[in-house]
Amino acid sequence: MERINIALDGPAAAGKSTIAKRVAAELSMIYVDTGAMYRAITYKYLQQGQPEDFEALVNETTLELTYDGEKGQLVLLDGNDVTDYLRENDVTQHVSYVASKEPVRHFAVNKQQELARQKGIVMDGRDIGTVVLPDAELKVYMIASVEERAHRRQLDNEERGIESTLEQLKREIAERDEYDMNRDISPLQKAEDAVTLDTTGKSIEEVTEEILQLVNDLQ
Ligand code: C5P
Repeated sequence: MERINIALDGPAAAGKSTIAKRVAAELSMIYVDTGAMYRAITYKYLQQGQPEDFEALVNETTLELTYDGEKGQLVLLDGNDVTDYLRENDVTQHVSYVASKEPVRHFAVNKQQELARQKGIVMDGRDIGTVVLPDAELKVYMIASVEERAHRRQLDNEERGIESTLEQLKREIAERDEYDMNRDISPLQKAEDAVTLDTTGKSIEEVTEEILQLVNDLQ
């Protein structure tokens, strides 16, 4: 089979990264979590006391993705592994704001396009099918009910030792979606040629299988 790129977009906590990882492993492709890039820049923004000059912030930043057999994608920010900090509440609360800034998007999108140039990439995010990889061979727009997304995120947080309540997560997810869908630059929206996949009530295995079937159908 020819090398392809897969774009996986959708609202917060819709299960994109879990599924993208599985699909990438099944197809021997590389998984790229673009949200982690915006989170890393947000982490730096917070460390630096929330400066408003985003151009300067990204100009002074190096961001690299590496892969560890066990942990998966690691994010190196200015040479330091910050992966473990990226899901902290503080980062999550500020990431949509930082990701709405033009210099930040320009910086991240360039890197993402570079990573995908050789093909063989499963990339998840908000604007992958619309802006980053408009020519991706397969585009999936993944959705799920807010209740289910909050529930999944809570289990995820428990595993990572991050405290949260279901109500707090529901609110946070809804607010982030609202912000991501209504920003001026590259808002979250379904690409015209994307396949919508509602994962509510479905297992990880079922959703992975559906995407593998879509890949099979490409041939
Ligand atoms: O996917 P994740 O929840 O880690 O993304 C965190 C935030 O990063 C999103 O809420 C969104 O504001 C931003 N993001 C984006 N474009 C992407 C990926 C993430 O704007 N491609």
